[in-house]
Amino acid sequence: MVNTEVVGGAPDEPRSQVSHAELQRHTSRSSLWVLISGIVYDVTSLLDSHPGGTGPILKYAGKDAT
Ligand code: HEM
Repeated sequence: MVNTEVVGGAPDEPRSQVSHAELQRHTSRSSLWVLISGIVYDVTSLLDSHPGGTGPILKYAGKDAT
C-alpha cells in the first residue's frame, strides 16, 4: 500500500483527535498532513511518489482534501 499513516480521527481511535490548528501546522515537505473524510493522514512520504505530482498534495497540505 501507500506510505501514509493515520494521525488521528479514526473511528476505532476515539482519543486520537487532531485539532485544525494542529493539522495546519503540518504543511511542509518535512511534515505534511491532510484530512480526508474525517481522518487525518500523514502523507509526507507519499509526496515524491504521487502519480499526479507533488503539486496537488502540497496544495491540500494541512487542509480537507476529501
Ligand atoms: C493526500 C492525498 C492525495 C491528494 C490530495 C491527491 C490529489 C490529486 C489531484 C488533485 C490529482 C489531479 C492532478 C492533475 O489533474 O493534475 C491527482 C492525480 C492522481 N493521483 Fe492523487 N492525490 C492523493 C493521493 C493519491 C494516492 C494515495 C494515489 C495512489 C497511490 C494517487 C494517485 C493519483 C493518480 C494515478 C493521479 C493521476 C495522475 C495522472 O493523471 O497523470 N493519489 N491526485
